[in-house]
This record gives sequence, C-alpha cells and structure tokens, in this order.
Amino acid sequence: MQILFATSEALPLIKTGGLADVSGALPAALRAIGVDCRLLLPGYPAVLAKLKYTRPVARFDDLPGGVAARLLESVQPGVGVPLYVLDAPDLYDRAGGPYQDATGHDHADNALRFAVLSQVAARLASLGSPLAWHPDILHCNDWQTGLAPAYLRLSGDLRPTVMTVHNLAYQGIFPPHTLSLLNLPAHAFSIAGLEYYGNLSFLKAGLYYADRVTTVSPSYAEEIRSEPLGMGMQGLLAGKGEHLVGILNGIDTDAWNPAADPFLGCAYTAETLADKSHCKRALRREIGLVEDDTAPLFGMIARMTPQKGMDLVLSIADELVGRGGQLAMLGTGDRDIEAAVRALAQRHPGHVAAHIGYDEGLSHRIEAGADVFLMPSRFEPCGLNQMYSLRYGTVPVVHATGGLRDTVDDGVTGFVFAPAEADALRDAIERVFDLWRRPAQWQAMMRAGMRQDFSWRRSAAAYAALYQSLLGA
Ligand code: ADP
Ligand code: GLC
Repeated sequence: MQILFATSEALPLIKTGGLADVSGALPAALRAIGVDCRLLLPGYPAVLAKLKYTRPVARFDDLPGGVAARLLESVQPGVGVPLYVLDAPDLYDRAGGPYQDATGHDHADNALRFAVLSQVAARLASLGSPLAWHPDILHCNDWQTGLAPAYLRLSGDLRPTVMTVHNLAYQGIFPPHTLSLLNLPAHAFSIAGLEYYGNLSFLKAGLYYADRVTTVSPSYAEEIRSEPLGMGMQGLLAGKGEHLVGILNGIDTDAWNPAADPFLGCAYTAETLADKSHCKRALRREIGLVEDDTAPLFGMIARMTPQKGMDLVLSIADELVGRGGQLAMLGTGDRDIEAAVRALAQRHPGHVAAHIGYDEGLSHRIEAGADVFLMPSRFEPCGLNQMYSLRYGTVPVVHATGGLRDTVDDGVTGFVFAPAEADALRDAIERVFDLWRRPAQWQAMMRAGMRQDFSWRRSAAAYAALYQSLLGA
C-alpha cells in the first residue's frame, strides 16, 4: 500500500502542537509494518534549514493564485521517511510560525498558502501526477489540507481519501469570495460541498469529500457527532455513520523515555522510581521553586487557549499553593491567559513558576520532574501530554473528555474529573493530596501508569486496516 500523508507540521522539522508529534511518528510506524507512507510538507524556512539534502522532482506553474512552486524530495531526519517538500517561497519563506506572524496574527494569505498545499497533495494523488510514485490513498490532516479531497473529487478523480481531524475547533473558515481565488468551482459552494454557514470552510470540505473521516480517539469520535463538541459540524459528522472512526494516537516512546531522555540530566524506570526525585530537584533548581520534599509538584504544559482549561487551574491555584503544592507551568498562546499565568507566578514566588514560551527541553524536564500533571481540557481530541505523563510516572489529573477519558483510568493510573468546572477540579486535587500522603499507594499508581503501552504500533495497525478496508471497498 502506498499512502501520501499530507500535513502542515511534522517533527522533527516543524511543530506547533500534537499534529506535529503524530505526523512525525505515524508515517514511520506505518512503514515499519510494510506500508509505503510518504510525507508532504510546506517548505517553511525551518523545514528547509533542517534537511541535509533536497532534490527537485517536479514543478507546478498553474497553482491557485498564479503561484509557482517546486516539489523537493528528501527524507524525514532520524526516521528516513520519504518526504516531499513544497517549495513556494512567496507563500512559506517568511518570519513567524507556520500559521501566524511573530506578533501572533494569522498570516493574511493563509487561505492561499494552504489551498496551494492541498492542491499539490491532490495532484500528487491524481492520475496526472508528475511523480512516478502513485499513492493508493491520500491521507489529509486538519483544515490545512482539507481542500485536497475537494480538489481531487472536483477534478473527477476517484482516488480514495482519508481525512483525519486532530482538532475540530480549527475549521479554516474564509469569506465566500476566496472561492474563485482558489480555483474552486462555484457549484461546490453549497451545503453539499464546502459551504459552511455562508463561508468557505477548508475543514468542512475535507469532511464532506473524504471517503473516510478519522479522529484521534474513540471518545472524541462519538462526542463530535452531536453538540457541543461537534462545533457546528455535528450534522455532517453524524451522517458519516461508520465512516467516521476514532483511532487513538500513540506516542514516540523513544523520544519520551524516562530511562534515556537526552533533555534530562537524570534517568529512571518503574524499578528505580526513587531516582525520579533527582529530576524533581533539578527542575526546581532550574525554574526557581523552593526545595521541599513534602510538597507535591504539579506540572502543566499546554497551548494557552480556552481549550486547555488553564482558567480552571488559575481559579484553584491559590488554594493549591495554600495546601503546600507547587506548580510549574509552560505554554504560550492567548495574551490574556499568558498574563494571568504570569500574575499567578508573581503572587507565589518560589511556589509557582511560569515559563511563557515554547521550550521542548523544559517540557521533558517538567514531565520528568513533576509528581502530578494537570490536563483539565474542556475538550481534547486525543492529548499527548497525559500519555507522556503516564510513561514518566507523573500522575495525570484530567477532565473526562475525548482522549483523556480513553487513556487515564480513574483511581488506577490517575484522576479523572467532571464536569469541567473549578469545583470538580478542586475535588480531584483533594484526592491527589489524600493519596500523596500514602506513599505506597502513590507509587502503585505511578507504576500502573508506567506499565501502559501507548506505542504507535497499535495505532499504525489500525490505520493500515482502515486503508485496507477502503481499498477493498
Ligand atoms: P495540542 O495538539 O492540542 O496542543 P497535545 O497534547 O496533543 O495538544 O500536544 C501538545 C504537544 O505540544 C505536546 O507534545 C506538548 O508537550 C507540546 N507543547 C505544547 N506547548 C508547549 C510548549 N510551550 N513548549 C514545549 N512543548 C509544548
Ligand atoms: C490536536 C488536539 C490534541 C491531539 C493532537 C494530535 O491538536 O488538540 O488533542 O492530541 O491534535 O492528534
């Protein structure tokens, strides 16, 4: 089976969130079980800078917006997955992140930037592809590649497509006049097409035109069939019936391994749990928390958006500190959440540390050094940090939603609370402090978490079975 995996971010080249972790690991896991999966990524400067070599293999002169681009061939560093990079400097060679400029505003031409990516994905999957390699299936991810199934279908090509939703909150919505700029036919602007409440939605396009829709956990696949988590797409999603499935993400167990993590100056396993205290001490020193071995250290790492429930943590944080807890927070995002987190840290010097920014090394050191990990997300398609936490013996406290519900076993591997309100979180924290006072039971919970297997092998097998069934159909 040959699969083209089109995505807007992938480790170790470029990352803003969990999509990069998944795109960085799933293709390699598929290749390990005999599926010839290849990646397509935009040629952001960060991507091109990290590639040892690139070789031009195709040219496109008639892309939407009159854009010309080269297709470069390379390999994903570290894992050797064949990689196609879309080199279109007018669209991708600029400062800032993949989606936003340095001041946190969306790039003004995002519609064109990702329509072009989608168009190229569709061309590579079509009969008219300039490449000798022809994928059997085009696999798209999130709104950035959502137009690809539409382009393919609207050009009359029937090559099967899979659309994976990593987060329904990002829908790629643009005004209706964008349609003509993107070379999309007027007739596609309908409910049976890519129209969405009077606008154009890239995600809706993908959901509508793809043959199969997947999302990243079984619970989320159920939740999005209705309000509120369907976020406007519930009708379309419910109508997919069994063609909408949830496949739980895995984690990269080499990159996230407390026994051999290059970002740490310490190492431990379920058999040498006591050594985790070295990581805790080092973390405290690094971020300026006071030494106190009786204090449980709570960690939180997240994009600072309403999704992640930081506001819930903010509303109980003073009490948490009052009870002797410490808090280490890492994240970046909405300016008002960032400001509130900074203010919290200023109120509790030595007990709350906040790092506003993106720091991969620190994220590993918080996972290793913390005793408890907070993930009170209001919704969470899958969530990766709770799985990293389980692997690091860092007890997760999670809201009962999406992938959090599917990965944490309440009272056994962590604490699961509902509803997503401060009182429920407060009760869960109460239970954390109770267990913390009983070291033997605490360690049993740590070990139960560390025994879980979230490797990509199982997920890759599920994707392969889905591809197989689609080709058989
Ligand atoms: P989402 O994709 O919604 O952001 P996930 O839990 O799936 O949530 O994945 C988030 C990923 O991004 C994790 O690997 C997490 O460690 C990482 N991450 C998020 N914010 C930061 C940050 N400020 N610094 C370092 N890593 C971060
Ligand atoms: C999204 C979701 C997150 C998921 C990740 C990877 O960004 O918010 O829950 O783990 O994608 O699928």
